[in-house]
Amino acid sequence: MEKTIKIAIDGPASAGKSTVAKIVAKELGYIYCDTGAMYRALTYQAIQNKTAVTDEKQLVQLLKEMVISFEPNKGDQKVFVNGEEVTDAIRLSDVTNAVSAVSAHGEVRKELVKRQQEIADRGGVVMDGRDIGTAVLPTAEVKIFLVASVEERAERRYKENLSKGIPTSLEVLKQEIAERDYKDSHREVSPLIQAEDAVRLDTTSLSIEQVVEKIREIIQTKLTK
Ligand code: CDP
Ligand code: CDP
Repeated sequence: MEKTIKIAIDGPASAGKSTVAKIVAKELGYIYCDTGAMYRALTYQAIQNKTAVTDEKQLVQLLKEMVISFEPNKGDQKVFVNGEEVTDAIRLSDVTNAVSAVSAHGEVRKELVKRQQEIADRGGVVMDGRDIGTAVLPTAEVKIFLVASVEERAERRYKENLSKGIPTSLEVLKQEIAERDYKDSHREVSPLIQAEDAVRLDTTSLSIEQVVEKIREIIQTKLTK
């Protein structure tokens, strides 16, 4: 049997992590785990329950009562909270603008990291997020850190929103992304930071296929070692 490895893809908002992670996972027949969706699912639930994003104890309580599950859907994924589909709801701006505050709590992270590690224990996995290479899977064989200029990332989100019929302003998106990057990189617990042994890929002027090709090459060298 071919050996299986763990692949960690980290980076700031809209760098292309989930797009390339899904493609790579499909090609390898590995599990894909979108850890950002888990933080978003908790944020969604906190908003529904009127739990303050500053109330760590309540957030942890809410999380312990929550089943977060994924279901494959035509190359993408559906996300469920306690059986309710929240795939689109967790991408809306109320959740996006509150998620960094929720994810800054150490006890919230502890619980979600435990769940993420349990998913990774099932076998070959491609996991994307902010702290996968540094905290969730520190022994991952492949660690990628994807970056792109904030202008390019805002442009990508803008086009994505347009294609879904969601009206947005490029300038607002740019501000929101920059603000989230700042909060994610400056929190005390597991901030967004490149792992020492991660390969940094600047995707600003690369297509999705070009990024995937570079990652394929890195994976191949690990699989044939
Ligand atoms: O897709 P996008 O880049 O907008 O973000 P995401 O991956 O869905 O993550 C949403 C938020 O969850 C991030 O801005 C972080 O605050 C948090 N997050 C985290 O703290 N650690 C992770 N491993 C993944 C996400
Ligand atoms: O997961 P993350 O927030 O890092 O980004 P994403 O959701 O995978 O990508 C954000 C958008 O950028 C998507 O609409 C992708 O199709 C697009 N993208 C791109 O245009 N060029 C790339 N090299 C990577 C992603």
